[in-house]
Amino acid sequence: MRKMSSQSLFETKILKVDPNSIIFTANAHIDGSLPTFTDPQSEAAIREASEILKSSDNTVAFPTETVYGLGGSSLNDNSVLSIYRAKNRPSDNPLITHVSSIDQLNRTIYGVKNLKDGSTLNNIPEVYHALIKKLWPGPLTILLPVPSQEVGTLSKLTTAGQATFAVRVPSNPIARALIAISDTPIAAPSANASTRPSPTLASHVYHDLKGKIPLILDGGPCSVGLESTVVDGLCSPPMLLRPGGFTYEQIIALGGKSWSNCKVERRKTLEDGEKVRTPGMKYKHYSPSAKVMLLLPSGSSSKQEKIAKLKNLIKEQCQENKDNYKKIAILTSSQLAGLSVEDLEPESGPLLTIESLGIRGEEIQANLFAALRKADEIDLADLIVIEGIGEQDEGLAIMNRLLKAAGNEYISF
Ligand code: TXA
Ligand code: MG
Repeated sequence: MRKMSSQSLFETKILKVDPNSIIFTANAHIDGSLPTFTDPQSEAAIREASEILKSSDNTVAFPTETVYGLGGSSLNDNSVLSIYRAKNRPSDNPLITHVSSIDQLNRTIYGVKNLKDGSTLNNIPEVYHALIKKLWPGPLTILLPVPSQEVGTLSKLTTAGQATFAVRVPSNPIARALIAISDTPIAAPSANASTRPSPTLASHVYHDLKGKIPLILDGGPCSVGLESTVVDGLCSPPMLLRPGGFTYEQIIALGGKSWSNCKVERRKTLEDGEKVRTPGMKYKHYSPSAKVMLLLPSGSSSKQEKIAKLKNLIKEQCQENKDNYKKIAILTSSQLAGLSVEDLEPESGPLLTIESLGIRGEEIQANLFAALRKADEIDLADLIVIEGIGEQDEGLAIMNRLLKAAGNEYISF
């Protein structure tokens, strides 16, 4: 790998991979069968990435169905350190380990040798069985007890000293193939620079990590668009620690009896001295450079009233900032759907751009991070105004991300 000058450690390469060219058998996520490829270039790119993961301490960015991840071996302290370094991530925020199959989890993390039955769920507490049977591969992350030193070789740095480690089996074929072919459990946080919005396109990763990592696999846009749902079934009642790609309603409906009273972790900050349950929650996250103003529709006012209120809010913001705002981006969802620049009758003042995030929860979550980044990095907006949605279904995860992007503040309108 050619090394560059002091600021740039690598000449970051981007290799395209066609996810449709990777074929898994129906039980591969259980028994660990390897995929076949119909496109030699895609196969070569995945083999090149897997060589980096197996034979160096370096990291590789790759698409998952949720967001792009920055992967390194979960078994190797130096790889995990490379992840923290490239992202500038605080080292007390633990990482999710990604495996391609239950078989791989048993062999590589729990040290089970001579597996007769690769599909055994012996190492996974029963509380999770119904959920993982229905939702893996996919955006569900579970917490498991860290294996004892004698059997396990998981790097302590992935768990940041917690007694549990987080694990999931992603469904994106590129992620699955990379993990299966390298036969290495992969620690992978989102592949953004720490504090920035998560990446849903290879170009987002390149923007943040150019020169800091050797390779990005480009598999196009991520279909889900925000991160996996993190659940803890080891505590009573079970907790939803981070809302994500599967909704709270789905966890309740599919998890079986133990999950019927699952609680949602809602605290945004920690009291002094309080033990961190999910360390990610205490950090600044999903933040563009622009100021973010989150609007929460109250439901009672008409669209005309909402538009009038929005006009006033923009005026106030411009006055507060002594008319220094040159560009304002407005991201709409359902209540302001169809809003046009003319509706806001700007006579003078900042340039306004309006972008629709979509109407349905699934659309909004798929577009959210890309729209935030476009407004920030391409349109160079000074202020981003976002229309939020209700917290049911996908709304819980969407509002979790939007509230963080807006520094936990919102305006009802
Ligand atoms: O969808 C995803 O989960 C993506 C893709 C790449 O798979 N990854 C991701 O990783 O979002 P990251 O590092 O950005 O977020 C991991 C979250 C953090 O909030 C972290 O605090 C929590 O999982 N976490 C990890 N291990 C934990 C543990 N042992 N106990 C509690 N929370 C944990
Ligand atoms: Mg992240």
